[in-house]
Amino acid sequence: MRHAEQVRLLKQLIERLDAGTNVDAGSLRVQSTRTYTDTEQARRERDLFFRQTGHCLGMSRDLDQPTAFFTNDDLGTPILATRDNDGTFRAFVNSCRHRGALVETAAKGTKRRFTCPFHSWTYDVAGTLVGLPKNDHFGDVDTECLSLRPLPAEERHGLLFVHPDPNGVLDVDELLGAWFDEEFSTWGFDTMVPINADTYDTACNWKLAMDTFGETYHFSSLHADTLFNSFHGNVQCYDDDGHNHRMILCRREIDEMRHLPEADWDITVAGLPVYWLFPNIILMPFRAGAFLVRAYPHPDDPGRHISRIGFYMKGELADAEGPEAAEVNEMIATIAQNFAEIIRDEDYVMSSSQQAAANTGSLESIVFGRNEPALHHYHATYDAKLGIESGYAVAEVTRDVVTR
Ligand code: FES
Ligand SMILES: [Fe+2]
Repeated sequence: MRHAEQVRLLKQLIERLDAGTNVDAGSLRVQSTRTYTDTEQARRERDLFFRQTGHCLGMSRDLDQPTAFFTNDDLGTPILATRDNDGTFRAFVNSCRHRGALVETAAKGTKRRFTCPFHSWTYDVAGTLVGLPKNDHFGDVDTECLSLRPLPAEERHGLLFVHPDPNGVLDVDELLGAWFDEEFSTWGFDTMVPINADTYDTACNWKLAMDTFGETYHFSSLHADTLFNSFHGNVQCYDDDGHNHRMILCRREIDEMRHLPEADWDITVAGLPVYWLFPNIILMPFRAGAFLVRAYPHPDDPGRHISRIGFYMKGELADAEGPEAAEVNEMIATIAQNFAEIIRDEDYVMSSSQQAAANTGSLESIVFGRNEPALHHYHATYDAKLGIESGYAVAEVTRDVVTR
């Protein structure tokens, strides 16, 4: 992030801390709980937001060398992502062109060749069919037309984007928008090394998982003994652009930093940028690296989802040697574990209890406050794209409003 923007945001946080105010969405929002439970809506959102849209599936150094690969099954299409011999990022339908068996079953690794376990048709890292056993018995085959089916794929600012439909159009400009496109170029995501990855299968809708990242109002309560020790609660910056938005959370280090010359201010010391990439990505760069959180709906059950939480470390830290390396390793263990445990043991426990309430149907609606603008924007954006109205803004919550 450009330094002038960091200073602007830090000043905004300081003003709000001093005045005891927070960001203001300008209204409240009454949100139907059916958005977390409705099976038909869940089917439509999976189609529109997951099967017919390009997605960020990781960072560049998840494929850290030619012949590196990973597989992914979160978007309905089995995906094989590779870095070919020239270093180009590629993605394919992970289905054999003979009779459709899954070609690669490992989650990740390095391979020059992918051999289908069924009859051993073999593909290279560019997806080309390079081996067809007993081809004289099999019959005449133009191997060129039976390469692995390519998927639209693009690598930008250290992020890996794939469209799960071979005929889909991957429009990274549209996914990022001009603002994120520019700002992501400043974070050095392309140098960050994957250190840790957690997967949580949780009994809550994927949007409830996303919601938990949408405000700091809960820090002094839910995270009283954890995050609240290092963050001010109920104060943040918020800006949106199209379907995406960015929050800046406020670390307690701001109390010292405000007394330093502005030239020494650093948003990763005094704050935590939280980028929300519609529909399902939370990307948080911080001093040592970044967290990439991805939430995916369960294929049949609106009340379940999978969260994948990746911790990536800045290359220069990951490459540290000698005593510095030991320090870095300790920091890695602490950061990765703390963050994962807070999400799993605090945030997602709340998300599951919210889901349980929504499942009963006894609570038709919930309320997003004026200090929770990210939740307003996220659900309003979701509604607009899906052509529904799952919630509405109100100036005040009255008996009429919550029972209507
Ligand atoms: S299905 Fe893959 S080789 Fe036959
Ligand atoms: Fe939280």
